[in-house]
Amino acid sequence: MLISTDELAGITDIGTLGFVPTMGALHAGHASLIKVSVRQCDVTVVSVFVNPAQFGEGEDLDRYPRTLEADISIAKEAGADYVYAPTIEEVYPHYPALSLAGEELEPGLLARNWEGKLRPGHFEGVVAVVKRLFDLVQPDYAYFGEKDFQQLRVLEDMVARLQLPVEIRPCFTMRDADGIALSSRNRYLSAEEREQARSIPTALMAMRDAFKEGETGTNKLLNLAQDVLDESIQLDYLAIVDELTLEPIERLTEGCDRQARAIFAGRVASTRLIDNLPFNS
Ligand code: PAF
Repeated sequence: MLISTDELAGITDIGTLGFVPTMGALHAGHASLIKVSVRQCDVTVVSVFVNPAQFGEGEDLDRYPRTLEADISIAKEAGADYVYAPTIEEVYPHYPALSLAGEELEPGLLARNWEGKLRPGHFEGVVAVVKRLFDLVQPDYAYFGEKDFQQLRVLEDMVARLQLPVEIRPCFTMRDADGIALSSRNRYLSAEEREQARSIPTALMAMRDAFKEGETGTNKLLNLAQDVLDESIQLDYLAIVDELTLEPIERLTEGCDRQARAIFAGRVASTRLIDNLPFNS
């Protein structure tokens, strides 16, 4: 099940190769990405690598869950053929420098706002590791969840700009029965905090439902969502953006011919959560 860097070279010409990059702590959301890849590709590789380059100072790198044995079981159960868990030196040959010689990758314009603004260096770390993993695994298709919508768009943009020979296939966000988007960080929430976090999807859905009932002014929709959000949540941002540019939209088009999406980031006690919802869902 575990595959080494050397062995990867032997599987690239077996057929179509699907790739699900992860930082481990796999949950049903990852399992759903793996299952889509398994359905669509001949071989599926899941990578497990906690990428220090995408964590800022004071972020949760040290407490980020590391559960390789459980990850292997979940990946296997979902039908993956291989789990690739490279060492840090394999990913970053100049370690302890977290840099890739000759690979000065720009995360691009889509990384300027939202997560990119609040987490300086985050998307530089994401594009560096994903490009490096693409080079190592050489997939035909790579599967990413819409839950990290800005990451998805930044990576789609990177693939287009660098003309990489891989197609990114986005997959819908998976949610628990209470509506909360599946995330490895949900395990940090106490029962009380989880109750507060439930207001996040409720607020996003309230905006979408009000839009469907005819409200097109985004300020009104955002005010409505603020009223629904639990007051204990420390908001980083709540916005309605164009899916292509990630720029805020002032007014939605009735019937939603634009691709509009509500995006949220905030802190429930000490746990930072992000979520988003398309208006055409
Ligand atoms: O979404 C994630 O889990 C990570 O950002 C990724 C894409 C695996 C890169 O480390």
